[in-house]
Amino acid sequence: MGLKIGIPKEIFAGEKRVASVPDVVEKLIKLGFAVAVESGAGDPANFSDESYRAAGAEVIDGAANLWAAADIVFKVRGPSTDEVALMHVGQTLISFVWPAQNPELMQQLAAKQVTVLAIDALPRMLSRAQKMDALTSQAGVTGYRAVIEAANVFGRFFNGQITAAGKVPPAKVFIAGAGVAGLAAIGTAASLGAIVRANDTRAEVADQVVSLGGEFVKVDFVEEGSGGGGYAKVMSEGFQQAQREMYAKQAREVDIIITTALIPGKPAPKLITAEMVKSMKPGSVIVDMAAEQGGNCELTEPGQAVVRHGVTIVGYTDLASRLAKQSSTLYGTNLFRLSEELCKTKDGVIDVNMEDDAIRGLTVIKDGNISWPPPPLKPAAASVAAKPVAAVQKKAQGHGAPSEPMAGNTLAIMFGVAAALFWFVGANAPAAFLGHFTVFVLACFVGYMVVWNVTPALHTPLMSVTNAISSIIAIGALVQIAPPLLTGLPPGSVTGERPDELIRWLSVAAIVLTAINMFGGFAVTQRMLAMFRK
Ligand code: NAI
Repeated sequence: MGLKIGIPKEIFAGEKRVASVPDVVEKLIKLGFAVAVESGAGDPANFSDESYRAAGAEVIDGAANLWAAADIVFKVRGPSTDEVALMHVGQTLISFVWPAQNPELMQQLAAKQVTVLAIDALPRMLSRAQKMDALTSQAGVTGYRAVIEAANVFGRFFNGQITAAGKVPPAKVFIAGAGVAGLAAIGTAASLGAIVRANDTRAEVADQVVSLGGEFVKVDFVEEGSGGGGYAKVMSEGFQQAQREMYAKQAREVDIIITTALIPGKPAPKLITAEMVKSMKPGSVIVDMAAEQGGNCELTEPGQAVVRHGVTIVGYTDLASRLAKQSSTLYGTNLFRLSEELCKTKDGVIDVNMEDDAIRGLTVIKDGNISWPPPPLKPAAASVAAKPVAAVQKKAQGHGAPSEPMAGNTLAIMFGVAAALFWFVGANAPAAFLGHFTVFVLACFVGYMVVWNVTPALHTPLMSVTNAISSIIAIGALVQIAPPLLTGLPPGSVTGERPDELIRWLSVAAIVLTAINMFGGFAVTQRMLAMFRK
């Protein structure tokens, strides 16, 4: 057996998550580790001691015994002072730590001569790191839960309905900030049938908002909102003024506002003023997901749901914990993926390799030495990494990878070669070919322009409708079997000669098959489009 991973019960008030779940424990054991779980650690997330035992874990009574037995400790929340006291020299801790916000904790941990991997310090822009990205997995859960919390206090349906008792309009939801949590909230609210609008200072997320069923509302002020690394920056006063005007208008119109706007290392931007809250319809709801960082709404009370000016303002700071089974499973899987990276030999022994960009970023204390902040990513790693992230995000919405701008002389050579080819074809090909070729080139151009202007989310229905239209080839078969009245020629003849029976039967088969393609294609397109209609 290799090293022992210990999973203590979370002691932070109200925390229901657990750092690993039985399914994941099984995988850790296959990786060569022994696993010990503190008795009752999984209870709040509905994982019993028995289920951990069945997965092969040892269940240990009491935190002190658990911490003493473990070589590596998996936790969700950073350790408390009492927990740090239970640590021993050479132990490894993997959990959320937030080193920038917790310098004292960092000193305490370093004094214990331990190694600490802060899952929040993972270099997210490395595409290899995505499977370990607990910030993303937890933000996805919080975004979903924020909508559920809103639905819970909102007095109406989310979707529009026509019932015998009257017409119900759909709820209007506005999402401020379309990062990971915001996008999850957009998808959830849209799937419940609401009309969803969203805004972000980073204009590049507009496509993502649309592909999830939302409408991107722009601020009437041009300013680059990206502060690097995919994160936001503090915007100019001019932008903020324009943004406030737009938000004020949305506040008057919508029923629910979900705010997720954060700027790393800065207090959350105040986007919803008391005035805006006052202007909302009675019974409206605000869910402020930035409550822990000071809130995006002036009237938010962190950790509580309060009613102000007839509007319920939900400032819960434990949204992920409110979906503990789901968030624990995702978090446990992130830590398992990290374990795979640490234990490539699959023998239950870890190698905290400081030459590896992802591991280097995570490791905030190595054998008692504070190694945070990490050096900036090597240019090669950073640029190689930045590309796959953008590509993955675009691909997820049906785009291809963004293409590199082509060097000027390469472009010139390509144009030269194409022009020479055209000249050659024009000079030598028969006249009939030239006609067809011109139509072909124009068709390519028109097709490209049409497809380019269709929202990525609608590309699948577009494909099925073009497939249906392609059945126009049925005309060829129709001509083959057309009666003389229509063509003035003997049945099934385009040349004046009678085709043989075989050709006519083949034409009948072709018509039947293309009819299926045509009617089926239009029917499928209709059904797909219906999914996008409100
Ligand atoms: P976050 O939690 O730091 O911020 C949430 C959102 O608030 C961001 O989209 C930000 O632009 C927006 N925001 C900030 N100030 C605002 C304002 N005044 N008005 C409106 N919106 C405002 O961000 P999160 O969710 O952690 O991710 C941000 C980005 O990080 C992602 O969109 C992505 O580009 C990058 N990322 C990359 C990953 C990867 O490469 N694997 C994984 C996760 C995120």
